[in-house]
Amino acid sequence: HRVQNRQTGADAPRELPLGATADSLGVRENFDNEPDTDPALPANREWGRAILERSRATVLGADAVAAAAIATPGEIERAVADSRAAASAWASRSVDDRAGVLHAAGRMLAARRADLLEIMAAEAGKTLAEGDPEVSEAIDFAHYYAESARELERVEGARFAPVRLTLVVPPWNFPVAIPAGGVLAALAAGSAVIIKPAPQVRRCAAVMVQALWDAGVPREVLRFVDVPENELGQQLVSHPAVDRVVLTGAFETAALFRSWRPDLPLLAETSGKNAIVVTPSADYDLAAADLARSAFGHAGQKCSAASLGILVGSVADSPAFRRQLVDAVSTMRVGWPGDPTTVVGPLIEPAAGKLLRALRDLSRGESWLIQPRQLDDAGRLWSPGVRLDVAPGSEFHTTEYFGPVLGLIRAADLDEALALQNATPYGLTAGLHSLDASEVEHWVDRVEAGNLYVNRGITGAIVRRQPFGGWKRSSVGGSTKAGGPSYLFGFGSWEPVERSP
Ligand code: SER
Repeated sequence: HRVQNRQTGADAPRELPLGATADSLGVRENFDNEPDTDPALPANREWGRAILERSRATVLGADAVAAAAIATPGEIERAVADSRAAASAWASRSVDDRAGVLHAAGRMLAARRADLLEIMAAEAGKTLAEGDPEVSEAIDFAHYYAESARELERVEGARFAPVRLTLVVPPWNFPVAIPAGGVLAALAAGSAVIIKPAPQVRRCAAVMVQALWDAGVPREVLRFVDVPENELGQQLVSHPAVDRVVLTGAFETAALFRSWRPDLPLLAETSGKNAIVVTPSADYDLAAADLARSAFGHAGQKCSAASLGILVGSVADSPAFRRQLVDAVSTMRVGWPGDPTTVVGPLIEPAAGKLLRALRDLSRGESWLIQPRQLDDAGRLWSPGVRLDVAPGSEFHTTEYFGPVLGLIRAADLDEALALQNATPYGLTAGLHSLDASEVEHWVDRVEAGNLYVNRGITGAIVRRQPFGGWKRSSVGGSTKAGGPSYLFGFGSWEPVERSP
């Protein structure tokens, strides 16, 4: 199994101080990834069952959210002004001091793992299997960015000057890890932060923020501002006193933000339409299982999800590959997260628009290998669908659906597969299943995506080991990769300092 991380494009560090190279930076010590909970241990299964039981009636985060609701333009002005006023004191604390607070935040998130899983199941429909690594990732961000902040100080002849105020606008699909990542990076760099939670999962964000406050992050340095997505939201996002906006969401949302404020300093990780290529040399059992998991984990609601399987040559008509894929997909149990046997959970909202079209309609020439079925009245629960013979250039080929539907495309050879993989407007994750080393080299050199995965699934990037971020329409504002060595560079600039004689 191999993971490639692009060192060009989005990952190339900007504004490096004189004399520093990308290799000279990066966390060198004091960092280990947080392990996930092992569900094979009977005690952990009991623990998980109790979390799911509580999730059915949880009230976590309810008070904090009510207290944070913003209703007037004057309240936004005050929140922005108060945050900026608090920024200097935070930036002037020593890096040891700030890193200490971040490490404490990591420990607090670890101590609150059960609460975070409970609210993610209740509010976001996340299963424990999907939510648990997300909590680990949030913990990793805290410890990793704490140590990254120290690296910023080790550059000779330059001083890192953080921006004053960062606004974090996270998505609903990773309701703990992504908001935590943006907030913790900005705090580590020395910026004050306002977080505007995604409306579907505001309570998840509130439980995460509360953990950070309880760990010692000052409330005036990290503000939870629950503002509706109307003119008030626009006022906050386009406020001239906001120095950075960290957005994770649709490419269209980034474009909307830019239309409100053309000079908006945006660090945005946006959409994806990701494919796994399978060549005749692949291990079919493994390829089918990885395709199923990457396509249907969290019901396909990941920017990193596999939405296309590109089948090279004889793979497309191989009964063995089809059998493996049908078995892998149809054994994934669909249900609500409160049921511990659920593998594919609900959609965040009833299927609508393009997604509903993809789940229901067939364009000319396409057919279903596995037809998706709506399993509840509202339209939030769907069994996974696999569509055959997606036409190159069709809506299915290039549109991000964010739901449980996978399309299969035929390619005559690896070059045609690459052309199809690169033909979408996005470039976030990409996969290859091949046991032929020359095919792997050929593919790695030509595929246009930020995170490349060979002979494994394409979701679930791990902090430091697999820094995460994309190319093309998957990235706006030249953002560096989250969980990577240059991510904090986005939250300030380098200033030369006089050397003492
Ligand atoms: N970082 C997540 C993943 O790799 C997506 O945001 O799946």
